[in-house]
Amino acid sequence: MIGNLNHVAIVVPDLAAAGDMYRNNFGADVSEPKDLPDQGVTTVFVNLPNTKIELLHPLGEDSTIAKFLSNNPKGGIHHVCYEVQDIHAAIDSLTADGMTVLGDGKPSIGAHGLPVIFLHPKDAFGTLIELEEVA
Ligand code: CO
Repeated sequence: MIGNLNHVAIVVPDLAAAGDMYRNNFGADVSEPKDLPDQGVTTVFVNLPNTKIELLHPLGEDSTIAKFLSNNPKGGIHHVCYEVQDIHAAIDSLTADGMTVLGDGKPSIGAHGLPVIFLHPKDAFGTLIELEEVA
């Protein structure tokens, strides 16, 4: 079922400073910030040869990552995202195995315009896992 690592998401207190670190200290290809109001985040992508790092900062009062940042004021790894070919088949299989899909249990459209779900960290050894359907 599981495919490539699509990205690792890191919540940071200062997107510009974090982007500058990857650009200037590591020589990485770093995107411009992009606001995703529906998800309550601003994102910057660090494009690596084999995967991406997604830098996240809260956008708006109700951001789902605001609490994470207040608990981790210096920033921290938030989730990992794995690619799957068929997200509905993945949901059926994982929930049959007793894992919990967050939210209403149905895919939403993620940062890349593709269907995503999140699995509860309690079922995954403390890691919040995002699955993204790729064609
Ligand atoms: Co993500």
